Amino acid sequence: MTSMITRESPLFFREDIDMKTSKKIYIRTFGCQMNDRDSEEITGMLLERGYILSDSPEETDVALFNTCSVRKHAEERAISNIGALKALKKKRPHLIVGVVGCMAKAQGDKIIEKLPIVDFIAGPANIYDIPDMIDEVMTAQRGQISIDRESRPYIKNIAYHAKGISALVTIMEGCNNFCSYCIVPYVRGREIGRPSQNIIDEIKKLTEEGYKEVTLLGQNVNSYKDGESNFIKLLEKINGIDGIKRIRFLTSHPKDAGEDLFKAMRDLDKACEHLHLPLQSGSDKILKSMNRGYTVADYLKKVEILRKHIPGCAITTDVIVGYPGESDEDFIMTEKLMETVKFNSAFIFKYSPRPPAKASGLDDDVPKRVKEERNQALLKLRDRISSLKDREFIGTQTEVLIENICRKEKHKVTGRNRQNIKVALAGNSDLIGKLKTVKINSVFCHTLVGGLIEK
Ligand code: SAH
Ligand code: SF4
Ligand code: F3S
Repeated sequence: MTSMITRESPLFFREDIDMKTSKKIYIRTFGCQMNDRDSEEITGMLLERGYILSDSPEETDVALFNTCSVRKHAEERAISNIGALKALKKKRPHLIVGVVGCMAKAQGDKIIEKLPIVDFIAGPANIYDIPDMIDEVMTAQRGQISIDRESRPYIKNIAYHAKGISALVTIMEGCNNFCSYCIVPYVRGREIGRPSQNIIDEIKKLTEEGYKEVTLLGQNVNSYKDGESNFIKLLEKINGIDGIKRIRFLTSHPKDAGEDLFKAMRDLDKACEHLHLPLQSGSDKILKSMNRGYTVADYLKKVEILRKHIPGCAITTDVIVGYPGESDEDFIMTEKLMETVKFNSAFIFKYSPRPPAKASGLDDDVPKRVKEERNQALLKLRDRISSLKDREFIGTQTEVLIENICRKEKHKVTGRNRQNIKVALAGNSDLIGKLKTVKINSVFCHTLVGGLIEK
């Protein structure tokens, strides 16, 4: 049982709410795909209780903010969005404002000190308490804090997914790696694998709803465990599910992604040819201080083995610039490594100290201006390499899972190829949900542009 710490909150006029009418819920999500999936789970639980979705905080009864703490900037954005509801709450005191997710766990009741309009907060491991907490706020006119759990109990199986072709499926929670810069283990707790049968059941249900692709989620998916089962066994089971055409997964840690995984990706027809393999730095000194558990040589070896087994595999990465002690030489090594590997794409982040993560005790000694310069330099390099990698597709045929009508040009549709690169082609809504072979003719802003090959 979860013990809830409660507090009095400034809620008025609760008696004017008719509990029988449908209440509206608005949910805004910050952070990674794990948070996107959590927001779907929260939505699913609330729809089951008779809520309906609202797309603006102005018209809602409950406004939820599912937050991220990975960098200070992510927290600041959430705080400014929540703070913007102050005037609305004054006008409509019965509006319930909830802050959930990683920042709720990281900051606890400090959030309420900063933002007194907040009625309840719930950490990632307390996600399943949210519907009861909202009821409690409505009926008892009392604020709620629920951040006590350290890991999420997999007691529920929430089937709701926002309608689509490609679904996010969480396979594990938490992280045991404690990279020195990272707050995730502190807010998401230790690794815990979701029972594999739950995962399989959810994916089978998705196929009945017309989903064709799944992305398996975890902070460190390749260390997934459930009794005898491990990540590769899970991949094999999912590969056997009729109706699923493609399997993706995020995120791989270089210490856990090895040749057995690459061989499985090669041999399982539904496993897509894409690996997101965060590098973080091209300097051994920095990698050691980051507690990443691999050297540049180890990383390059993995890439070589991966490319030996799957020559066309796309590789993407994450890089942090301006980590404490990163000298010009360290940074140049990162640039060189990016040149050597030639990533299809990369996310570049400026280091942000995140107490209680260990590196927050180090001197954040790279000046802001230098962090910005290094960030800009890597973005430029990334774009140049991405563009070269994209151009390799010109003149080739590639398999596309078509997902949407193009937002700007309504006579076009968009989708992704197996390497997870966006593709646009002429077509209409009949194509949505279909796998098609497309001949690529050009590249425009990291999107491959082509035409259908009739087969
Ligand atoms: N579990 C994944 C991703 C976690 S967070 C992994 O192991 O890579 C996503 C990315 O945010 C990280 O890969 C890292 O590049 C970046 N990141 C994490 N903490 C950060 C910090 N304190 N400052 C800047 N970037 C950070
Ligand atoms: Fe953070 Fe490292 Fe865990 Fe990824 S592996 S979530 S970067 S501690
Ligand atoms: Fe952010 Fe939490 Fe994801 S800190 S990156 S939302 S796990």
